Amino acid sequence: MTEPVVTLAVQDLVKNYVTATGTLTVLKNVNLRLNRGEAMAVTGPSGSGKSSLLFVLGAMELPTSGQIELLGQRLNGLTETQLAELRQQRIGFVFQEHHLLPQCTVLENVLIPLLAGGGTKPDDVERAQQLLDRVGLQDRFDHRPSQLSGGERQRVAVCRALINQPALLLADEPTGNLDRTNADSIGSLLLDLSRDTGSSLICVTHSTELAARFPRHADLRDGVLHELTAVAPTK
Ligand SMILES: Nc1ncnc2c1ncn2[C@@H]1O[C@H](COP(=O)(O)OP(=O)(O)O)[C@@H](O)[C@H]1O
Ligand SMILES: [Mg+2]
Repeated sequence: MTEPVVTLAVQDLVKNYVTATGTLTVLKNVNLRLNRGEAMAVTGPSGSGKSSLLFVLGAMELPTSGQIELLGQRLNGLTETQLAELRQQRIGFVFQEHHLLPQCTVLENVLIPLLAGGGTKPDDVERAQQLLDRVGLQDRFDHRPSQLSGGERQRVAVCRALINQPALLLADEPTGNLDRTNADSIGSLLLDLSRDTGSSLICVTHSTELAARFPRHADLRDGVLHELTAVAPTK
């Protein structure tokens, strides 16, 4: 299947939250274009709207105004059912918390996103095993999350996000709970896997070191997204 060249096109995106004390404008006129297979890091201080941006781009929340096109499809024309389908089939999420199901094995956790689409086929199990293999967990298929380290759990969460071969992978501080070594390796995995699978990636991070390894880097300040000058990646 050939994906459109432009994964994500965002125009004049505004997001308000209405609170007891008034309206809070969290995203102010965000414009962004992400092509197939591009990887971008987003940094910014706490409360600057990074998670809100990912929620809106990932069709988990509606924008207040502005336009989002995912794979050439305008999100604001879609019904709630169509948005749910899009989230389930085209978008992968990795959060700071792994959110693995404790009662399920590693392999089952990776396969969970497929259940909403009608169950798993033998090919899916093979793909899940390949992904786990790729992140170094080939001997852990039958383990429970409680038997893994924090870094290993986050690797499983990355595999789960990729099982549907999403066009867009969104990661919200995926290394925030990890020590330096594990954070580095999860960062590398996200970059490598998105490159290998052709998924476009947006990764929110506090780590300027991780951000510097991304081909694109934008900074969110007070709800305004500033794309920083692209620097040639250092090897
Ligand atoms: N559902 C909500 N209702 C009201 N305010 C919210 C909601 N979600 C986030 N906010 C506010 O929006 C601002 C941006 O939050 P967030 O996107 O979580 O920032 P970041 O991820 O950069 O720390 C914060 O001031 C936060 O309190
Ligand atoms: Mg956040």
